[in-house]
Amino acid sequence: MKKFSFFNKISTKIAMSFSLTFVLTLLVLNLIIYISVTTHTNTLEQSLVIARKEVILGEVNNILSSSPRLGEEEISNIIDKATSHRDQIYVNFKFPNKTYQSFKKISLPYTIDIDQVGEYHFIKLKKNRFFYLNTMVKAPSGEKIYIQLISDLKSSDSLIDALTSTMLLIDLAGFIFAIVTGVFFAKKTLKPINSIADTAELINRHNLNKRIEASNHDDEIGRLIKVINDMMERLERSFENQTKFISDASHELRTPLSIINGYVDLLNQWGVGNKELTEEALSSIKEEIFNMTDLMEKLLFIAREENTRYNLNSTDVDVPSLLKRVYKEFKMIDKKHAYSIHNIPEFHGFIDEKLILQAVRAIIENSIKYTPKNKQITISCEKGKSHFKIIVSDEGIGIPKKHIPKLFNRFYRVDEARTKDTGGNGLGLSIVKSIVDIHNGNIFIDSEVNKGTTVTLKLPIQ
Ligand SMILES: Nc1ncnc2c1ncn2[C@@H]1O[C@H](COP(=O)(O)OP(=O)(O)OP(=O)(O)O)[C@@H](O)[C@H]1O
Ligand SMILES: [Mg+2]
Repeated sequence: MKKFSFFNKISTKIAMSFSLTFVLTLLVLNLIIYISVTTHTNTLEQSLVIARKEVILGEVNNILSSSPRLGEEEISNIIDKATSHRDQIYVNFKFPNKTYQSFKKISLPYTIDIDQVGEYHFIKLKKNRFFYLNTMVKAPSGEKIYIQLISDLKSSDSLIDALTSTMLLIDLAGFIFAIVTGVFFAKKTLKPINSIADTAELINRHNLNKRIEASNHDDEIGRLIKVINDMMERLERSFENQTKFISDASHELRTPLSIINGYVDLLNQWGVGNKELTEEALSSIKEEIFNMTDLMEKLLFIAREENTRYNLNSTDVDVPSLLKRVYKEFKMIDKKHAYSIHNIPEFHGFIDEKLILQAVRAIIENSIKYTPKNKQITISCEKGKSHFKIIVSDEGIGIPKKHIPKLFNRFYRVDEARTKDTGGNGLGLSIVKSIVDIHNGNIFIDSEVNKGTTVTLKLPIQ
């Protein structure tokens, strides 16, 4: 069996597309989480700083309501109070020209000029981010007090960093998980396809009976298996029919050939001088050649009909006239039976005249073969709305009921013993059935032993 490379396998392709879709979805989700968490923390930090600014301004205004300016000690107190919280918010004051810083020890540079009132910015210094907010209050003395609040975003940033790395780890684990489960499920789902291929590889003309193990899945693959098994069934039947047909045909040809061979041997042995023997041999050889030609014609018809689907050459045919012609023809060549024709309405049918004539003749030939001397053979006809019927009845030996369904099988004869004298290969009715089938019609046989047989062809008018 052909082995496919890993990347050519459908299971790999399914697993890969499944995993990629899964991971892409995960990444998009993570991105959304990342953006909303960062925005949320920034807003939170911002509002914390703004709240702190309000507190500081409240205190400054409180002092200024009773004093015209701020003293150094008061500024230090405000700075200490404002920065005593756990969060890392630093405060700078500039008043009047002197600066006061709450973070002398960590030496944070003035990235944003303290005089730029009302501005706020997120600034990245080295690896850390800071949030700057500048504000200004006017003392009753007219001097300006500049205040700057700086929030160190280290802790929320490290939280976001931790979140990001956790999300990336989850993405990686998700990707691996998706590949493993994807490969597992794809393999499980596609396993029956491999079993279909394995079975198909085993099938050749010697073991057409092989079937794919029926799947109990009610899905597309289950249906595929059923369709393939049904197709194999039909192929097997058709192959069996072909084989049987060939062996039956060879068998039928063997009889006339061995008779001819026997007479040729006799002539060889006794010489052509024996007039009586020569005449008997020649007439028998002629008869067998006639039989063989007849058989060959039937076989050719079947082969042609089977291989190419016969091309109907239908025309508007005056069916009653056709039947009258057949009636006259048989009345003339067969003097042993009494013929009658009746019930002939006027109508036309759209049929292949040559084929229907062949079918009617085959049915009448059967009646002749299986009807005792002087008995009646009747041809009649009925016309319905969409169909018409051609009916041939005889007063012959009849056919036992159990044989009737098999009469259309090729080479089927009711009883070898009774057909021995009459000859025939058991192909006539199977050919009649094919002709009726390609006309989209039906054939019915009604028979009673020792009473007679009625064969009805029901054909569409159009
Ligand atoms: N009218 C009939 N009366 C009695 N038996 C019939 C009649 N028509 C057909 N049969 C039986 O049905 C069998 C099949 O008929 P079919 O026409 O297929 O073959 P056949 O007449 O034996 O040979 P072939 O038609 O090939 O020369 C016959 O062998 C015969 O036993
Ligand atoms: Mg026949």
